[in-house]
Amino acid sequence: AMRNELNAMIQKIDDPEYKKAFEAEMQSFFILFNRYLSERAKGQKIDWDKIQPPAPEQVVPYANLPEASDPKLLDKLAVLKLNGGLGTTMGCVGPKSVIEVREGMTFLDLSVRQIEHLNSAHKVNVPFILMNSFNTDEDTARIIQKYANHNIELMTFNQSRYPRVNKESLLPTPRSALEDKSSWYPPGHGDLFDAITNSGLVDKLLAQGKEYLFVSNVDNLGAVVDMNILEHMHQNQNEFIMEVTDKTKADVKGGTLINYEGNVRLLEIAQVPSDHVEDFKSVRKFKIFNTNNLWVSLRAIKRVMDNDGMDLEIIVNNKVADNGEAVIQLETAVGAAVKHFDRAIGINVPRSRFLPVKSCSDLLLITSDLYVLEHGRLLMNEARLFASTPVIKLGDHFKKVANFQKRFKTIPEMVELDHLTVAGDVSFGRKVILRGTVIIVANEGSKIELPDGTILENKLVSGNLQL
Ligand code: UTP
Repeated sequence: AMRNELNAMIQKIDDPEYKKAFEAEMQSFFILFNRYLSERAKGQKIDWDKIQPPAPEQVVPYANLPEASDPKLLDKLAVLKLNGGLGTTMGCVGPKSVIEVREGMTFLDLSVRQIEHLNSAHKVNVPFILMNSFNTDEDTARIIQKYANHNIELMTFNQSRYPRVNKESLLPTPRSALEDKSSWYPPGHGDLFDAITNSGLVDKLLAQGKEYLFVSNVDNLGAVVDMNILEHMHQNQNEFIMEVTDKTKADVKGGTLINYEGNVRLLEIAQVPSDHVEDFKSVRKFKIFNTNNLWVSLRAIKRVMDNDGMDLEIIVNNKVADNGEAVIQLETAVGAAVKHFDRAIGINVPRSRFLPVKSCSDLLLITSDLYVLEHGRLLMNEARLFASTPVIKLGDHFKKVANFQKRFKTIPEMVELDHLTVAGDVSFGRKVILRGTVIIVANEGSKIELPDGTILENKLVSGNLQL
């Protein structure tokens, strides 16, 4: 039935070129869908008792890497940012990467700045690649226009567009290829391998003499090119390196590297049987997690794709469509590809290489004076006395980026902050200073507006504020 519906959509297309591309895309989708059906029929496939922590040689501490000595290796590198997601959790209307982070610059601008600096500092030519989706390509194209005359080679390609599937009937929800965006979805960052291969970019990069691809989330401004890792990869012929970092109690959801029957594998929370979820979250049993900073050999990608392709664990994402219909999206994660590569390892990197922005609380941290900007890179402000960042909990009034931006006239100073909780209808004037532990609660029906220049140190503010 699925096959018929897909064929019907293909037949309706007139333009032969578009028809061909759409057909290829639906073919990849159909393979994924069939895998989903057969795995669902087989039931649980991961055997919890076979899961071991990674062996010592499978995860190398960053501090053990020798200092890089060959900057020319950079000429074999290309940098790719995953830019297909929308940042729905933060209520982004467009791509997350176009949010302004500092000094009027967006995530995209800062990432470009990082590469421009790398290229000019070492006189190399590292291309900058964006993997967009049909949700993000238009807005992104508008932003990157301004780099046309810059000294940076910028390339983009789009990831696949798959049909959402009705949860009950298991039929695609769109009726035609042209049907509106909401019936389609980008199938997760694991789609990278299909999309980059189909776009012809793997061959193009190899032809340019590129051998390595450094992949990271576009919202992670800590993911700068690291020459020590690159040189380690080159010397040890690792086809795949996953940067992992020590887990804290706040990172319970991230995927972790495991040793499964002697092989390095990624274990995602979605694969964990429900009676082992607490084990999975424990910091003692699984000490590290995936930052999604990945280094991959382009030749190895080509080899795997020329043979059987990637067989990445399917993540079923349950959604409710605008019309109330229960749908599923079949997605995959890029890190799951680790199992296909030879001499794949993890490198345990410092936390500073992982600065994700998943919520407006994260956004507050990276926009504040806790960090200073250096060539597009965020470094912890030396004035901060502790290595850790403050714990920030902003309430629902700050959940969407647009609201967040309205509620801060300027971002408060927080180098001396340990903990901030804000709940209710609260807004901040200019140049507010926060120190120690600050809790601000506007009760139901009341409103707190902190005047310009307010200083709060170890303070609880609640009700209607009278300063
Ligand atoms: P996440 O899965 O964490 O999602 O993506 P997100 O987009 O940051 O936020 P939510 O879940 O919508 O709120 C991690 C990275 O992978 C990219 C995102 O753009 C982000 O850089 N991504 C995600 C893709 O490129 N394609 C996808 O299909 C999904």
